[in-house]
Amino acid sequence: MLLHGNFTTPLRCFLRHPTPHRTATPTPLAITNYSISDQELTSRGFTLHRTITHLNLDDLNSIFVAVGFPRRHPDKIRTALEHTDSLLWAQYEKTQKPVAFARATGDGVFNAIIWDVVVDPSFQGLGLGKVLMERLVDELVNKGINNIALYSEPRVLGFYRPLGFVADPDGIRGMVYSRKGKKR
Ligand SMILES: CC(C)(COP(=O)(O)OP(=O)(O)OC[C@H]1O[C@@H](n2cnc3c(N)ncnc32)[C@H](O)[C@@H]1OP(=O)(O)O)[C@@H](O)C(=O)NCCC(=O)NCCS
Repeated sequence: MLLHGNFTTPLRCFLRHPTPHRTATPTPLAITNYSISDQELTSRGFTLHRTITHLNLDDLNSIFVAVGFPRRHPDKIRTALEHTDSLLWAQYEKTQKPVAFARATGDGVFNAIIWDVVVDPSFQGLGLGKVLMERLVDELVNKGINNIALYSEPRVLGFYRPLGFVADPDGIRGMVYSRKGKKR
């Protein structure tokens, strides 16, 4: 995903929510039943946040590093998050630390791209990634945004597919700017 790879390695997969933005009448695809309810999350010791007010960026950076993303400059993370339309993170109440994070940037009307979907390795496999993605997609769809895209590493395709994402819809391929491939 953005900021994860350097562009010398092409991002291989471009996924898009099934409803293309050129559809005349947008079809609401909001998920009504979450796999884990907010109440259940609370009972398991997790709190969801939708702002960065209580988010410790060093802790977030540590999760990025723990999952193999490069460590980023805290000022740049702050700037990126300030330019983010929707974000969601889960805090583990026992430690007060963030354990899962996801965000989306976009134009607020037609298009959004999801970035930085991460779950602390110690908390993976508990459903938290799905918890965040379900709600993030729901929020975007409820705003009327129908073109929701993300970049997926091949090993994570199976995580995104059941959430409604498809690779290369209608043969459409994602492209990223690569200085390496630029003709001079
Ligand atoms: C990918 C990631 C966000 C998934 O979060 P998670 O909390 O571990 O996943 P969940 O527990 O919510 O899993 C939800 C479902 O997806 C499945 N799943 C999780 N990771 C998967 C993977 N890599 N491939 C296929 N299925 C996967 C789970 O089995 C579960 O299935 P179920 O609903 O049938 O039980 C997390 O593993 C992570 O942070 N990975 C490292 C960072 C990364 O690669 N991010 C994505 C960059 S494109």
